[in-house]
Amino acid sequence: MYILGINAYHADGSAVLLRDGELVVALEEERFRRIKHWAGFPTETITRCLEIGGISGRDVEHVAISRDPRANLIRKAAFAVRNKMKISNIVNRTRNLKKVHEVRTPLAAALGVTESELPRIHFVEHHPAHLASAFFVSPFEDAAVCAIDGFGDFISTSTAIGRGNQIRMLHKVSYPHSLGVLYTAVTQHIGFPNYGDEFKVMGLAPYGAPEFVDEIRKLVTLKPGGDFELTRKYFRHWDEGVEMEWEGGSPTMGPLYTAELNRLLGPARVSGEPLESRHENLARSLQAVYEECAFHVLNALWSRTKNPRLCLAGGCAMNSVANGKVRDNTPFQDVYIQPAAADSGTALGAAYQAWNQILKKPRGFVMSHGYWGTTYDDADARVVLDGRNDSEWRYTSERLSDDSLFDATARLIADGNVVGWYQGKMEWGARALGNRSILADARRGDMRELINTKIKFREKFRPFAPSILEEAMDEYFVGAAPDPFMQQVYPVREEKRGVLPAITHVDGSGRLQTVSRESNPRY
Ligand SMILES: [Fe+2]
Repeated sequence: MYILGINAYHADGSAVLLRDGELVVALEEERFRRIKHWAGFPTETITRCLEIGGISGRDVEHVAISRDPRANLIRKAAFAVRNKMKISNIVNRTRNLKKVHEVRTPLAAALGVTESELPRIHFVEHHPAHLASAFFVSPFEDAAVCAIDGFGDFISTSTAIGRGNQIRMLHKVSYPHSLGVLYTAVTQHIGFPNYGDEFKVMGLAPYGAPEFVDEIRKLVTLKPGGDFELTRKYFRHWDEGVEMEWEGGSPTMGPLYTAELNRLLGPARVSGEPLESRHENLARSLQAVYEECAFHVLNALWSRTKNPRLCLAGGCAMNSVANGKVRDNTPFQDVYIQPAAADSGTALGAAYQAWNQILKKPRGFVMSHGYWGTTYDDADARVVLDGRNDSEWRYTSERLSDDSLFDATARLIADGNVVGWYQGKMEWGARALGNRSILADARRGDMRELINTKIKFREKFRPFAPSILEEAMDEYFVGAAPDPFMQQVYPVREEKRGVLPAITHVDGSGRLQTVSRESNPRY
């Protein structure tokens, strides 16, 4: 039985294909459109899912979409009435919901069938899809499950217990309260307006001091039972609504914060203005307050479940700094976060929600590596290499045995070169995990600046992440757990920080990927 999971009309459009409950392929639309976080209907990835699966659209028996326009209708209506929501805001939201309703037309086109031939369609609410993406592919038979994000289908935080092939919701926090919105609002205030810029603020935070913690705590009140509330006067989404565009390109979002926030934190930085220590301090303070809030949610979840295992998802589960501190700040002992924990992962979750929770099939699949995408052979590579016609471009090629290739690559890296390393299937999720990676020597102090300015064309402060053999992890990091998906930041051992300057962040931490013989032998 084939199940197609899709994330449509939301940021990070994506599609996955399951065959009898086994993941066959998982893809993010941005890779093919070449627009980060591409939002809309994921035609490109659906087409490739069918191609790689070697099937036609008629072979798909179920389609699961990670949106449910009917979900939380009573909460939505009550909120709109209670808050006298602006008509334009309601119209804006209704337009997006209407798109989800009309999904049959583009879906039929993508599958190459008529609308009357479409397979059964499951509308899986956004947060249950996040939860399913975290638990159903985890190695745990039972676990506490948590999703934290901006919003999806009116919910921003959900906690649950997963047992076997079922997940039972325990608690939800709904619009307008959201830790994702808290993080994004202050990120915008610090002068990073683009979708996904929260990563930059997280990378900037270690440069600063937590001087604004008291001020930022005023934005959110923690309530018993893992609840929390944002403070209305600092946020625009409540009363005015926020301009959002979720279709056919990079998602955009207007300012989430009010002038009141400028009075509290000082003037907002305009994107492109120099970064001052005040901005670094704001970033550090935001990260600190976010962590307090996240651990508040997680500790309440632990009290409800008393389960030592935790599966995390949602955009906020991409906060690798907070993730690395979970075991020190909660009673949870084992943490599983699949690589596409943000919204692209809801396609995976929707598909498994259909297979496990709805069709009640037993679990049998564990995501133990992140390589679920497209692959290209030498002939494909040659077409691309030969197709470049700028005069500066030269290349030579030679096919080496694996042993020679590994020796030559190690030698190039040790000699201070930057190596593009490409093999096998593309990574699922935001991290390069050794199949599409830029590699350099972690021991060289000049590497970070060299790569940031000459190769990735990005801010100098942004850190690089180490890949490390699983068996060497404890030799270089303190209190780390193996993580093939690079989702957790840990302190580099003090005596090793000088040894690994290119991957040791300014606060002495590193976001490691553990590599094992099982997960990626050639890497
Ligand atoms: Fe989400």
